[in-house]
Amino acid sequence: MISLPIILSFTTSLAAAAGLSNASLKNYVNSLELDYSFNPVKEAYWTDLPHHRRTPFALSPDGTRAFLAYLDNSETDVHIQRVDPQTFAAVGSAVTVKGGKEAGGLVAHNDGFALLTNEALPSGTADAPAGSTPVPVLYRYTEGEQTFKTFLGGPGVHESDGLSAAPDLNGDLVYSEKAGLYGAYFVVTDYSGWAEGHFGDSVQYVSTNGSLETLPESSAWGCSHNTGIAFEAADAVPFASICAEDQGDIWLNTNNRGMDLSGVKISNENTTNGAGGESMGGMSGSYSNLARFQGEDSYIFSWVSRGAVDLYENTWMGKGYVASSNRTNGRNVAIATFSDKQTMAGEQASSVVGAKDGDSQVNWLTTGTADCSNAHVATFDGSNALVTWEQIEKPQCDNIAMGCQGAFSGSHFQLVNKGEKVGQPIQSMDTYVAGDMVTMTDGRICWPYVNMTWRLDGTAGQYGSLPSSTTKQISFACMNIAGAADASSSATVSSSAISLGSVVPSRVETTAAVISNSSAPSKIPASVPFLVSSGAMSSSTSSIKVARKTHTKAYSSALSTLATSATTFSTAVRVSSTSSVTVKETVSALASAADNKGEICEVQYIYE
Ligand SMILES: *[C@@H]1O[C@H](CO)[C@@H](O)[C@H](O)[C@H]1NC(C)=O
Ligand SMILES: *[C@@H]1O[C@H](CO)[C@@H](O)[C@H](O)[C@H]1NC(C)=O
Ligand SMILES: *[C@@H]1O[C@H](CO)[C@@H](O)[C@H](O)[C@H]1NC(C)=O
Ligand SMILES: *[C@@H]1O[C@H](CO)[C@@H](O)[C@H](O)[C@H]1NC(C)=O
Ligand SMILES: *[C@@H]1O[C@H](CO)[C@@H](O)[C@H](O)[C@H]1NC(C)=O
Ligand SMILES: *[C@@H]1O[C@H](CO)[C@@H](O)[C@H](O)[C@H]1NC(C)=O
Repeated sequence: MISLPIILSFTTSLAAAAGLSNASLKNYVNSLELDYSFNPVKEAYWTDLPHHRRTPFALSPDGTRAFLAYLDNSETDVHIQRVDPQTFAAVGSAVTVKGGKEAGGLVAHNDGFALLTNEALPSGTADAPAGSTPVPVLYRYTEGEQTFKTFLGGPGVHESDGLSAAPDLNGDLVYSEKAGLYGAYFVVTDYSGWAEGHFGDSVQYVSTNGSLETLPESSAWGCSHNTGIAFEAADAVPFASICAEDQGDIWLNTNNRGMDLSGVKISNENTTNGAGGESMGGMSGSYSNLARFQGEDSYIFSWVSRGAVDLYENTWMGKGYVASSNRTNGRNVAIATFSDKQTMAGEQASSVVGAKDGDSQVNWLTTGTADCSNAHVATFDGSNALVTWEQIEKPQCDNIAMGCQGAFSGSHFQLVNKGEKVGQPIQSMDTYVAGDMVTMTDGRICWPYVNMTWRLDGTAGQYGSLPSSTTKQISFACMNIAGAADASSSATVSSSAISLGSVVPSRVETTAAVISNSSAPSKIPASVPFLVSSGAMSSSTSSIKVARKTHTKAYSSALSTLATSATTFSTAVRVSSTSSVTVKETVSALASAADNKGEICEVQYIYE
């Protein structure tokens, strides 16, 4: 990767101005052959409606190794497969963590991976939970060999608060290089102590050498009957955490790890029978719901909600706490943004007893009558995020606070900039999100799924009405904010149009930028979409062209004129990795010609 010394402020990209287009989405169908069979469907708590069974996916910091974790079709043993981050094909064969009952979270390192799973303790273990109930455990593998195994519950872990098991490993694993710690946040059920028999959640931190750290920022039992966890790394403990509890709220609980008023109340939710509308995906969910903006301290959270009306005092919780009824039948998609791990942008949700509206502060991405589910979010850069969900146009919602059923009407992908929708969502009937959405080194967001006929109109599992299937193939999908910066999907420009003498390009990649004429900053921030394509700008980049795509008085009018404006390339320069200064001059010349903010330019990388 080279960074060009272009001294201009590129504030947003073509895609950011116009929203995503179909060309922004690229699929790698069946790119990954698995060594073992996988069942892609997990039935939901209470309803048995189908969810995608999570396949955790992670990329190493140096971008060279990706890993995918999946549960064996037998429902025992978790396999971790190394994946090529360019082709999404297998590299070598899988590593198997024997006895693992769920693939609950994955961190990739330059030399291996760490896996969060749950497993039964060996029979005869003192103080083990009854009935071989699995307990949470963290594994670290280095170059294919196990380097540590650390239990995060069970005997010996926070004994004075009661012992925990994890019959369903709803939760997530993250790692902070700066903090030198793994953090895991997961649902537990206690089998001793004051919370015996109750579902709650626990935050645990582990050092790079595998030792479980008992920190003030750890927790033994936080939010009650939590069916939704969002967890994201921070530079120091505590890491950013969100819980959806069973008393009516979603909390940003980074600082308190619980469900009390010292947290930040993101949302009122109608809760019934321990559930809160599967706000973060319910069973097999709780990943890619909270994402940190690249290079920033800020975060974005996405969830689904039926809204909240008619607040009344939750007397079981006490003064200051409210419960509510749902505003809608189906669920809509909402987002919240945080300026740092403990501070929400905007108002907390209302706790006014008697209030009619309990959701007026919510930033909704959808407001229709469709049911939205399986919401996830990831960040492209310092300000742009991708929010995705699935829809049922005419939902049948038989169970309050649970999921709905009906004909699947498509996955939706919405670009969001600084908390605002940009353009319309794009849709796909055969692309799903079934594992972590990862920001790749080239700026794309990629995730795994299984190419299958996806149905939401019946129940899943052994006694379900839908057919079951297994697979040995995983597909990947990638979203590109620049819309066309992939060789095979880019808007290819004919060689004559490029007119670089006798040069015939092998491929052309196009990205775009809005030039600001404010005084030139000393360097382009790394998070700017223009530089998203820098991953592709190896020394094989032999030409760069910059074109005045459109010329507008203001950024807002650029939004509407961009799509129809003519493309006239004003400049074509030949560069090599050593002559990038030429590009700087070219772009500067273009900028000085601009008499207003909002000059939209198109930049092409031409490979010879
Ligand atoms: C984008 O894809 C969707 C779903 O495949 C399709 O319905 C729609 O017509 C496409 N839009 C354009 C502009 O091609
Ligand atoms: C592991 O690392 C932690 C934090 O750096 C340290 O406190 C602890 O003593 C180490 N444990 C072992 C067994 O080396
Ligand atoms: C949930 O909403 C329903 C109305 O749809 C209401 O009857 C019920 O009391 C609400 N639950 C709680 C705990 O407030
Ligand atoms: C509340 O949700 C339930 C379950 O989805 C639904 O039956 C009911 O109609 C909803 N209430 C309103 C006011 O839409
Ligand atoms: C995905 O699988 C379906 C069958 O379930 C098949 O019809 C379709 O062609 C596949 N999609 C692609 C892009 O290969
Ligand atoms: C942009 O340039 C115009 C004309 O040169 C000037 O009037 C305007 O103040 C500049 N805007 C900014 C933000 O620098």
